[in-house]
Amino acid sequence: MVRYSHLLLILGIHFIFISSQVCKDSLVPVILVPGLGGSQLEAQLNKPTVKHSFCTQVTYGYFTLWLDIKQLLPVIIECWLDNMRLNYDDFSNHTYNQPGVKTRVPGFGNPKVVEYVDSKSSFSVGGYMNTLCGAIVDLGYTRTTNLYAAPYDFRKGPSELGNWFEDIEELIKNAYNNNNNSSVILIGHSMGGLLVHQFLINKPQEWKDKYIKAFISLSTPFGGTLKALKVFASGDDLGVFLLRPEILKEVLSTMPSMAYLLPVKKLWGDEILVTTNEKNYTLDDLEQFFIDIGNPTGWKMYLNEREYSTELGPPGVEIRCFYGEGSATIKRLIYGSNGFRGSPLLEFADGDGTANLRSLEYCKKWITQQKERVETKGFNEIDHMGIIRDDSAIDYIVRTVRELSNC
Ligand SMILES: *[C@@H]1O[C@H](CO)[C@@H](O)[C@H](O)[C@H]1NC(C)=O
Ligand SMILES: *[C@@H]1O[C@H](CO)[C@@H](O)[C@H](O)[C@H]1NC(C)=O
Ligand SMILES: *[C@@H]1O[C@H](CO)[C@@H](O)[C@H](O)[C@H]1NC(C)=O
Ligand SMILES: *[C@@H]1O[C@H](CO)[C@@H](O)[C@H](O)[C@H]1NC(C)=O
Repeated sequence: MVRYSHLLLILGIHFIFISSQVCKDSLVPVILVPGLGGSQLEAQLNKPTVKHSFCTQVTYGYFTLWLDIKQLLPVIIECWLDNMRLNYDDFSNHTYNQPGVKTRVPGFGNPKVVEYVDSKSSFSVGGYMNTLCGAIVDLGYTRTTNLYAAPYDFRKGPSELGNWFEDIEELIKNAYNNNNNSSVILIGHSMGGLLVHQFLINKPQEWKDKYIKAFISLSTPFGGTLKALKVFASGDDLGVFLLRPEILKEVLSTMPSMAYLLPVKKLWGDEILVTTNEKNYTLDDLEQFFIDIGNPTGWKMYLNEREYSTELGPPGVEIRCFYGEGSATIKRLIYGSNGFRGSPLLEFADGDGTANLRSLEYCKKWITQQKERVETKGFNEIDHMGIIRDDSAIDYIVRTVRELSNC
């Protein structure tokens, strides 16, 4: 067995060697767009008050806010939660950091910042797109020459990511200009896929024909996911994080991105999504739901992001839509006599463990709605993160990149 896998390893290396030789002149530039939690965030503090005496009040430079495991230890985490959370402003309909907290997203353009989200790249827990990126580099790609990334402040929704939409357009043009006028492959994972879709439907067709080779969508919940409702009501780790759901709720429920990920009417109609002893909630009862869970701001955030999540038209570029299926995924929350204070019973349906199948496979609709090619593929029992980690999925993605590069 050992000898056999050794042989495979040698063959694998040989294969990669050949392919990089063949591809090098024709590689189509690739831009990675990460999902929620897949970008680094840095903060600088000059806070009027701190939550506890042991919390840092002033820093002279920027430090890593997401992700630094040391800040997430018990007790200390109280400081982190206070630095990370957002406040909603009713006049501008925008969210802001806590007073005295400045944040920025480092490394726009550089794939390193989405390979590991902890800046020291030392913890395996901080590994995000590292395996996928490594496989793409093995094809002959070079970071920041023809392999890029477009990170963003994943706490925000599209209504506040206007600069990011401008920045990625600039990045696409630069990638094109620096690579023999070759159109670009956009690879979006999860919420990253939603932003890519949103970007594309707002671009003129001639622009897309010129600059975009294809969109590789990985586990994109095109019609939102039930899990986002659970985040607001009871918290969740989203299959991405390493923290306890109840703790994360404190931060996640202040994030417009969570409202952006709520299920959309077009896919869920008037299905009952949440049940308590007093009431059944469908999407028509969403405003009441937010009042009843004690987060009326959630409803306002939803109103701001809604126009960006409900437009589900075809992207107008070649799309390869890959997702996991066959994992139990929340379809309904049932609260008992303690109401929203208690833990819900969960009803499950098919999906990738984080996103519901109907949302992941929505891209199938586009087969008849656009002239550009639409390939859809479900990977059995590969979960939401597995699509960028599992060998068989990565293999398929890399083969797709090769095929799009004609090599
Ligand atoms: C904020 O949102 C509310 C409700 O959607 C809307 O009526 C108001 O015009 C918005 N204000 C701004 C400044 O966009
Ligand atoms: C650009 O195209 C020319 C001709 O096809 C090729 O020789 C050259 O290597 C290409 N350069 C890059 C950076 O891809
Ligand atoms: C790229 O396109 C521009 C504008 O059409 C043209 O001037 C330039 O020569 C092209 N560059 C390459 C390497 O093909
Ligand atoms: C919720 O809906 C179920 C099934 O439609 C029904 O049996 C139940 O009585 C409803 N509960 C409430 C509180 O309206």
